[in-house]
Amino acid sequence: MQALAERLHHLNYQYYQNDVSEVTDQDFDRLLAELAALETAHPALAQPNSPTQRVGGSITKQFATVPHRYPMLSLGNTYSEDDLREFDERVQKGLEGAPYAYVCELKFDGVAMSLRYENGQLTQGVTRGDGTKGDVVTANVRTIRNLPLHLRPVPNQPPDLEVRGEVFMPLVVFAELNAEREANNEALLANPRNAASGALKLQDSAQVAARRLSLFAYSLLAPGRTFGSHSETLEALTAYGLPVSDTWRRCTSLADVLAFVHEWERKRFTLPVATDGIVIKVDNLRQQDQLGFTAKSPRWAIAYKYPAEAGRTRLLAVEYNVGRTGAVVPVAILAPVPLAGTVVKRATLHNANQIEALGLRVGDLVLVEKGGEIIPKITGVVLAERPVEAVPIVYPTACPACGTALLRPEGEVHFRCPNERGCPPQLKARLEHYVSRKALNIDGLGAETVGRFFDLGLLPTVADIYTLSTRRAELVTLERMGEKSIDNLLAGIEKSKAASFDKVLFGLGIRHVGETVARKLAAHYRSIAALAAAPAAEMAAVPEVGGIIAEGVAVWFREPENQRLIERLQAAGVQLALTGEAPALASKALTGKSFVLSGVFEHHSREELQRLIESHGGKISGSISKKLSYLVAGENMGPAKREKAVAMKVPIITEADLLALLPGHGSPAGEAPGGSAQPQPQLSLF
Ligand code: IVH
Repeated sequence: MQALAERLHHLNYQYYQNDVSEVTDQDFDRLLAELAALETAHPALAQPNSPTQRVGGSITKQFATVPHRYPMLSLGNTYSEDDLREFDERVQKGLEGAPYAYVCELKFDGVAMSLRYENGQLTQGVTRGDGTKGDVVTANVRTIRNLPLHLRPVPNQPPDLEVRGEVFMPLVVFAELNAEREANNEALLANPRNAASGALKLQDSAQVAARRLSLFAYSLLAPGRTFGSHSETLEALTAYGLPVSDTWRRCTSLADVLAFVHEWERKRFTLPVATDGIVIKVDNLRQQDQLGFTAKSPRWAIAYKYPAEAGRTRLLAVEYNVGRTGAVVPVAILAPVPLAGTVVKRATLHNANQIEALGLRVGDLVLVEKGGEIIPKITGVVLAERPVEAVPIVYPTACPACGTALLRPEGEVHFRCPNERGCPPQLKARLEHYVSRKALNIDGLGAETVGRFFDLGLLPTVADIYTLSTRRAELVTLERMGEKSIDNLLAGIEKSKAASFDKVLFGLGIRHVGETVARKLAAHYRSIAALAAAPAAEMAAVPEVGGIIAEGVAVWFREPENQRLIERLQAAGVQLALTGEAPALASKALTGKSFVLSGVFEHHSREELQRLIESHGGKISGSISKKLSYLVAGENMGPAKREKAVAMKVPIITEADLLALLPGHGSPAGEAPGGSAQPQPQLSLF
């Protein structure tokens, strides 16, 4: 077993560190299978760092949280060469004229990870968390393909060391997984960073292994001073067998740094990983100490972020999508153009005003920009290169899907198709919204399936979802469905009957009733009967609701078809009232305080934090203003928010700071007592 393990470790090292395949993939898999079989037969002899751990198999129910031995800080960001010049001046001043050099590295867009190696063995992987403590995700980290489970022995290797690096999903893997998910009607992963961070939080390490994560190491920490410079550290990491991207360079002047920045501006798209900038670090470690840290980040390093990637291409056509509320949204069809690592073929045009403001014509050469998210946008037209045959865009006057004349209500940016009851894309989108994750979250019934069932006439309304169980025999004969997926789907539908009233209310897709408003209305009225009976003026007084929303809700309930729908949902057993007592506030600790949540949080979802704040009497606010009590900053919060908060002197706190404000710290507010799955009395509604 030991010989097999060593052989496999060696083959892994050759493959991932040196790009050498000594054996075929099949032979590798055969050796791995042989070791796995031996481990099953002799479990006592299985080693924690066995190469079989890469395929996962262990389940972590709850990730333990541990403090970091060295805090995991973040870097200051800059967006211009001038900022870099200022950084260099600060360094120069701080070092009092002594000569210095920098190391430039790519800034990998993934998830920061701390790895502990004791006596050469990987013993722990911990997420960044709030920077002072993180989650132990060792089993998941062991599945990272290119990460050595033990280090190559090298003289003077510290016996206990911590490696820091970025875990990422390689771009090809991201593209492949999304193609598979699309084929299986599963929700797509938003971007490689989210995909990596989501994968690391999975409980089943076999599932993590399937996400094929990778890592690049960029720093090493050990008690005492082992190396003189960061560049020596990177060389040592490489010698230990850790994956270090060979893109780093030592630069002896700011001019060198700027040359590196320019060189990688385009070349970075040839890398297997998403990058969003360059990290510039003072090379000499003594000089790093001399410069020290601010409260949040080192003074000896900075991140230069590349501007959003822009490209030029031709506008081939404009298509019009009809959304859930009937809004008609123009979409630009573009000649395919490579942009920020993917090929862009479509971009949003937002609305008619936007087209007019750009003065856009079909055939124009346009500027396309891709920011952090996946949907690119058109930011300009190159008028000098307008072809004579370019055709002005004539906004449609009739719905492209159902032919109904479009309306543009006063003060609205969108043209709308008013045919709410008969326009197919609207009906379909309402179904999609009802089953979506934030609404009824019906397992096995994704957007694609819903669309397909709609096309087959199986789902004219959301209430018909609950009649699908009577049509099982018919459903299993559908192509690509099968008994198992239909049973999953029916089980998911059954389970959704336990979803709380506020989710159902949100799922109904009443205009302007988003998640927050749905929660407020549900909490205030507690049943759909009470809500349906409420006069608009009264509803408008509920916090966060207001006149326009209230009027929309009242109009919705006046429609006989909607009343029928509610009655059918009621008969199906969907929760149309909150069960149990009105939840008492967990405390009044946050009464009078308002919060904006921004970014991604380590321990709680944003929804959980919102509920937690509200359950302690605090309020969630929509935007940053002088009156705001706190901005709670998660990972990857946009720089604009931070700047605004700083300018308005709003305190910026972390998730941990927020939790510390609460008595009984950290226990998320539960659902209403009694759960929400109990049968409810039949109410007479209308
Ligand atoms: S060095 C004191 N080097 O960027 C922080 N970070 O805000 C030292 N990152 O969370 C970090 N590539 O996860 C460093 N080559 C690189 C990096 C890198 C990506 C991430 C890291 C950190 C964030 C900095």
